[in-house]
Amino acid sequence: MSFNFLKNLFPAKTYLGVDVGTTSIKLVELKKSKGLPELLNYGFLESYGHLERLNNAIQTSTLKMLDNETAELLKILLKNSEVKSTDAVGSIPAFSAFITLLEMPMMSDQDTSKAMQFQAKQYIPLPISSVTIDWLKVGEGQDAAGNKTQQVLLVSIPNEQIEKYKNIFKMAGLNLVALEVEGLSSSRVLTQSNDKSILIIDIGSRSTAFSVAKNGLLKFSGQTDFAGGSLTQTLSAGLNIRIRRAEDLKKQRGLKGTGGEYELSTLMLPILDVIISEARRIKDNYEKGYRDKVESVILSGGGANLLGIAPYVQEQLGLPAQKANPFSQLIYSSKIEPLIGELGPEFSVAIGLGMKPFK
Ligand SMILES: Nc1ncnc2c1ncn2[C@@H]1O[C@H](COP(=O)(O)OP(=O)(O)OP(=O)(O)O)[C@@H](O)[C@H]1O
Ligand SMILES: [Mg+2]
Repeated sequence: MSFNFLKNLFPAKTYLGVDVGTTSIKLVELKKSKGLPELLNYGFLESYGHLERLNNAIQTSTLKMLDNETAELLKILLKNSEVKSTDAVGSIPAFSAFITLLEMPMMSDQDTSKAMQFQAKQYIPLPISSVTIDWLKVGEGQDAAGNKTQQVLLVSIPNEQIEKYKNIFKMAGLNLVALEVEGLSSSRVLTQSNDKSILIIDIGSRSTAFSVAKNGLLKFSGQTDFAGGSLTQTLSAGLNIRIRRAEDLKKQRGLKGTGGEYELSTLMLPILDVIISEARRIKDNYEKGYRDKVESVILSGGGANLLGIAPYVQEQLGLPAQKANPFSQLIYSSKIEPLIGELGPEFSVAIGLGMKPFK
């Protein structure tokens, strides 16, 4: 469990959850209290140019330089949001991790740990020495013969990715106490009070992450490169307008345009349909593989703010669909009440990260 450093530390009372996305960094400062955690601060920094390059450059050698820039942005955000704590939990994007759910006989944690090292070789398309493996028991069941079984989530992250984030946080002056794949964080905050399986569709800028979860635990996941950025690009190309203008149009009108604006949804729906068919595939695979039904859908990430998306997804998937509201799991100032509708979906991962030490 070497990318979860929490266990060795004296638990602090406040933590930062820091979600470094493709086009933005989101940050929350949470305080442990008797009931729900309290939101002390939050901040958001959007930086299209830089962060777009950051992710496009993932495989290039200028990586280190971009990490410096990311750290600088994080510093600015920390300063502007006036947070006091320095202990932080950070996210690893879904596209950087390998996640597999395994059903295996019930055994001690020690034996499970050994079995996981062995199993990992089969499931990870990289040399085992170049990844860090973690596992998490997420359920119990019974096999056909009546023997007790356990469901174990196997998570592997390339060491290179872990080093990259450790480095960024260090340069920004933060003490990184844990790193977590974003699907685990959004599952924690969005499904912790629900024992029916939920499909979370996190539509970010560069990628869409899918997570099936219940009781706050991730069970099954997937990912596609069709996301908010693809919607903007299709508008820009189809209407022959600049990316920034397409981005504004998308945010203003969404799928709701009528008359002359009808064209907007005509352009965006094919992309959305690709995301939805991937969602359907993940739902079907989960249901078949794990004999459990997905009962509803939560739309998260900035893309969940696309006007009209929830009813469209609901109709296409035939499941109730709603926008994420991670703030419902926090105590927060009534001053921000008018903002949480929009902010909610964008902050799911950051809030889930910030809550990790309190769970
Ligand atoms: N009101 C809105 N309507 C439509 N799309 C929106 C709206 N607000 C934000 N978005 C889109 O959400 C996306 C950004 O979402 P988010 O902040 O979750 O991404 P990210 O975490 O930076 O990216 P990623 O998760 O892919 O790394 C952008 O594509 C943006 O255009
Ligand atoms: Mg994101």
